[in-house]
Amino acid sequence: MSSYRWAAGYIDDGDRPKIVTSRFHLEDSYTLERYLATGGYQALRHALARTPAEVHDEVRGATVLGRGGAGFPAGTKWGLMPADKYPRYLVVNGDESEPGTYKDRLLMELDPHQLIEGSLIAAYAVGLAQVFLYIRGEMPLAHERVATALNEAYVAGYVGKNILGTDFSVDIVLHWGAGAYVVGEETALIESLEGKRGEPRLKPPYFPAAIGLYGQPTIVNNVETLSNLPWIMANGAAEYVRIGTETSPGTRMVAVSGHVERPGVFEIVNGTTTFRDLIYGDDFCRGIRNGNQLKAFVPGGGSAPWFTAEQLDLPFEGKLVGAAGSMLGSGAIMVMDHTTDIPAAALTLTRFYAHESCGQCTPCREGGTWLERVLQRVVDGRGTSADLAQMKEIGTSICPGEFPHASSSRHGLDATPFPYKMTTICFVGPSAYAPVHSALTLFPEEFAARVRDRVQIPVTAVQ
Ligand SMILES: Cc1cc2nc3c(=O)[nH]c(=O)nc-3n(C[C@H](O)[C@H](O)[C@H](O)COP(=O)(O)O)c2cc1C
Ligand code: SF4
Repeated sequence: MSSYRWAAGYIDDGDRPKIVTSRFHLEDSYTLERYLATGGYQALRHALARTPAEVHDEVRGATVLGRGGAGFPAGTKWGLMPADKYPRYLVVNGDESEPGTYKDRLLMELDPHQLIEGSLIAAYAVGLAQVFLYIRGEMPLAHERVATALNEAYVAGYVGKNILGTDFSVDIVLHWGAGAYVVGEETALIESLEGKRGEPRLKPPYFPAAIGLYGQPTIVNNVETLSNLPWIMANGAAEYVRIGTETSPGTRMVAVSGHVERPGVFEIVNGTTTFRDLIYGDDFCRGIRNGNQLKAFVPGGGSAPWFTAEQLDLPFEGKLVGAAGSMLGSGAIMVMDHTTDIPAAALTLTRFYAHESCGQCTPCREGGTWLERVLQRVVDGRGTSADLAQMKEIGTSICPGEFPHASSSRHGLDATPFPYKMTTICFVGPSAYAPVHSALTLFPEEFAARVRDRVQIPVTAVQ
């Protein structure tokens, strides 16, 4: 079992506060028996002894920033639902597929009851009776564990009619996704749940809190966001905000991958832990592999503009990282050492987003594909300097105006705050350009060399 845990990627070193991973070290952490033995479902009892408005206020007071990407506070989002419109729904976003991100999967596999309890607390606070739990199709163990936990919770009376003898009743439906990245976007996820193609809706007017699933008010929350709620109800918002910083309270799960000695998922103190701590700290990744040098890192999932060693001392804090020209996004850091072929690394990411485009918006559908093709040509040594200019032109058709980038005194560039302007319905379009732009901006010499040292292709081989 312990080797499975290592393979699963969670690392628990050091003496850090644990809010969502406190049971991860237990062999049977996912069972109802263990959950109850470690205080499980007591937070729900506390919640049901209070009014829904009081529970909502507690969560609002904790300022739980959404962990799915946008970082919007959960309590504030819940308050955006129109007061008298019913039925209303909660959709749990377990579609996790942003490149580099693998922390929600662990929460579903290792502590599914915590997620169920968090969902019940949210449902009680906003007065809804139907929850949809949407799990990514490629996560069979998460699906199996959540399904088993749901069955246990129904039998024990934590889910279903008259929960714990009260008049609070909730049904939770489990839905298995088909594996499209874009369905992680909340409105595409809602379309998918309605049985349609997973294509994002326009916002406005389709803000889920107002017009969501089946046209009704809907809260979409990330797995990690909801997994925080049992701790908050059990310990109080005041305790929660004592951890982390004023703008980023609590803890946060961060998945680190790439060229580090010890990749893994860590629960870190929000807002104060720096990228240097995470990449080099003994309790975290223990430095770059084989004693190599850091070249670049992606601070918040594949969509995020890249940073270099110059940003290592930034804390994992949304506003500061935004002001430096990137984002924390889905809580995933990807590290590249000095041996990394930068144009090829950018191509890997751009190819992913181009492939995942749902095709609704021309700049994303055509732009992403062209970016991939032109960059492939450059990587293959068949590109020209006109190709480099063309990639920038394609990029500005997706993200018009001055495209933001990580600050870099090395290249004399100023930081521009996130987010981008964009001509597309959702963020997949800009995500296809972000790696290309980062790579071109931070490492222009690598592209210049690729174009200068072109592969000589025999005339007969040119079609
Ligand atoms: C292309 C795209 C993919 C996304 N994928 C996910 C995802 O896999 N999981 C997730 O929780 N949020 C994802 N999001 C963010 C959701 O749209 C939404 O903001 C989030 O689920 C809200 O939950 P939170 O407020 O608790 O963070 C994605 C957004 C975009 C634009
Ligand atoms: S940006 Fe891309 S993925 Fe998003 S809606 Fe438009 S075409 Fe679809």
